Amino acid sequence: MSRTVYLNGEYVPEQEAMVSIFDRGFVMGDAVYEVTAVIDGKLWDFEGHVARLARSLDALEIQNPLDRETLLEIHHELIRRNPDFTDGGIYLQVSRGNAGDRDFVYPAADVAPTVVLYTQSKPGLLNDPKAKTGIKVISVPDLRWHRRDIKTVQLLYPSMAKMAAKKAKADDAWFVEDGKVTEGSSNNVYIVKDGKIITRELSHDILHGITRAAVLRMAKEAQMQVEERAFTIEEAQSADEAFFTSASAFVMPVVEVDGAKVGTGTPGKVATRLREIYLEESAKTAL
Ligand code: PDD
Repeated sequence: MSRTVYLNGEYVPEQEAMVSIFDRGFVMGDAVYEVTAVIDGKLWDFEGHVARLARSLDALEIQNPLDRETLLEIHHELIRRNPDFTDGGIYLQVSRGNAGDRDFVYPAADVAPTVVLYTQSKPGLLNDPKAKTGIKVISVPDLRWHRRDIKTVQLLYPSMAKMAAKKAKADDAWFVEDGKVTEGSSNNVYIVKDGKIITRELSHDILHGITRAAVLRMAKEAQMQVEERAFTIEEAQSADEAFFTSASAFVMPVVEVDGAKVGTGTPGKVATRLREIYLEESAKTAL
């Protein structure tokens, strides 16, 4: 069945949603995005995603076209208008819009941003069998630009990394820069050593994950020890556990790094517990 999607103020069938070939999102990757998880028709961590969208737009001097209330209303309307959609995510993209001919200079402020939202159905998302077995990752050099805290649609390198992982029969790739892991292809990464959760500190080097913020807060509330610092691939290989977080996979155990088993090679206690806590707590505040 065709989805109903949102494009610039209108709800239309997906095949009728057209964006100009001059749109700067298309020609220059001049756009930012968010993915908000939807479980049982409700939005998870919505406030965090709206706040980060505002920060990304601000960093690129793109006018923020929609306030929180309008964005919430659009998300809810999409859920209403796509009755088969209950679990998955809502993808939101704001580009700098159609400025006519291609130009490196930003267009004048009266060019309206292009706003697109659509649902992506993933039935059974909460019961992803990978959460029970864990996933395998390989490492690749981090060749992305240096403002990874801005959630832009420039995803070619993460896509190449994901393909490298696929070719190596792994599930994902971890980026390494100056000998330290930055993040996963589309997630934040963690190791656990002697009961302590270790994850890279926030900076321009990584995306400030909304799931990361929630999981670290919940870990601290559960009296778990957290250390925010970068770690190496070797440390990950000799850690007791590893895992990643993202809005599309929540908390996902990692059981192999570059062919070496992490811990027992099965999902660890801390990752499993954090996943339980995150799923339980997020459901309570879903909108
Ligand atoms: N990716 N780091 C990167 C590079 C990401 O692309 C993402 C999210 C994260 C995790 O952020 P959050 O917890 O806010 O989802 C970290 C989304 C899910 C995607 O591109 O589909």
